[in-house]
Amino acid sequence: MIYVAVLGYGTVGSGVVEVIEKNKDMVNKKSAAQLEIKYILDLRDFPGDPYEQKVVHDVNIILEDPEVSIICETMGGVKPAYDFTKAALLKGKSVCTSNKELVATHGPELLQIAREHSCNYLFEASVGGGIPIIRPLNYSLTAEKLEAITGILNGTTNYILTKMEKEGADFAATLKKAQEKGYAERNPEADIEGYDACRKIAILSSLMTGRNVSYENIYTEGISRVTADDFVYAKAAGKSIKLLAMSKDTTEGTLAMVSPCMISPENPLYMVSGVFNAVCVRGNMLGDSMYYGRGAGKLPTASAVVSDVVDCARHQGKTIMCFWNREEAKLVDIGDVERGFFVRAKADAAADVEAAFPGAERIQVEGRIQDCGYFTQPMKEKEFSAKYEALGDKVLGRIRLEMV
Ligand code: HSE
Repeated sequence: MIYVAVLGYGTVGSGVVEVIEKNKDMVNKKSAAQLEIKYILDLRDFPGDPYEQKVVHDVNIILEDPEVSIICETMGGVKPAYDFTKAALLKGKSVCTSNKELVATHGPELLQIAREHSCNYLFEASVGGGIPIIRPLNYSLTAEKLEAITGILNGTTNYILTKMEKEGADFAATLKKAQEKGYAERNPEADIEGYDACRKIAILSSLMTGRNVSYENIYTEGISRVTADDFVYAKAAGKSIKLLAMSKDTTEGTLAMVSPCMISPENPLYMVSGVFNAVCVRGNMLGDSMYYGRGAGKLPTASAVVSDVVDCARHQGKTIMCFWNREEAKLVDIGDVERGFFVRAKADAAADVEAAFPGAERIQVEGRIQDCGYFTQPMKEKEFSAKYEALGDKVLGRIRLEMV
């Protein structure tokens, strides 16, 4: 028998209990052991819940119980999850988590503690919810030199952008509707400003490079400045607008960023709509591979946590190798990166835009009298920014194009 404790009986935590119970036979068979939930830690009581007898309020009951060997941390946030996780690993108990904030902030330290105590810190659910992406990077693509990872890693923003594209609606109205339907949080900042995607690409970049990519150093831009007008031009050019989280291995270092981008139908992420997430991974031998599915939600996320529980059960007393050390990766200044830009400007500023961006291609959209739109030639981002800023209030917005 392997005893499991769940920290946090919220959406994901209750999902973990449900997955382990509903798929008991399969999970036990694949673990080659009987898994039993012994404790559920939460501040609240759950009268009438089938597992109410397992609820405890003191984490030390779990930490001090030698029978518990696997802990699912589904609390979220850095505090107190960090203290609980560290204490558990120091006692040789494996921890499986969905907590991207904690993994992005303290991942390498917690992995090292796990190595030193012959247990595991696994985090499949921290990126892409139910989509297997951590395990493929760690176990499957081991013959590859990973060159780039590009993903749609946030379902809320992808849902909003898809709605804006389909309905021609503006950002604010679409966000409001998404909040009313429960697709966006009441406080949506972490999603719409790209912070959630930033933490996720920090984790994937760290696994790609084997070094630590700190999320604080990743350039991050959200979707709140994307307008319905931008979509009119994108559509006329046969493109879509997606919030991309990107990481690329370059000769100068790692280029990591989160930003809305206009992408063409040739990009496999073009067809990823609504709440779905997808991650494209480029290896030097395999080329591109793509991982697609539900990036959030109770059961998809819980399924990924339980897949880690099964892995821990299969590797009791052994640490599964994970290449993510504490040395900081060198990040490239995005100002030096070359790409083209979509620029929207006031209609009477067309000549100024053409003078500032020689060779810019005008996007023809019938009936547009207030503004005009262009694709610039590829140029260094810092050169673009200087020219764009010099145009002052003649320009109305800009969106990055895919990298050359
Ligand atoms: N808020 C996240 C999203 C879900 O919208 O994708 C979990 O990471």
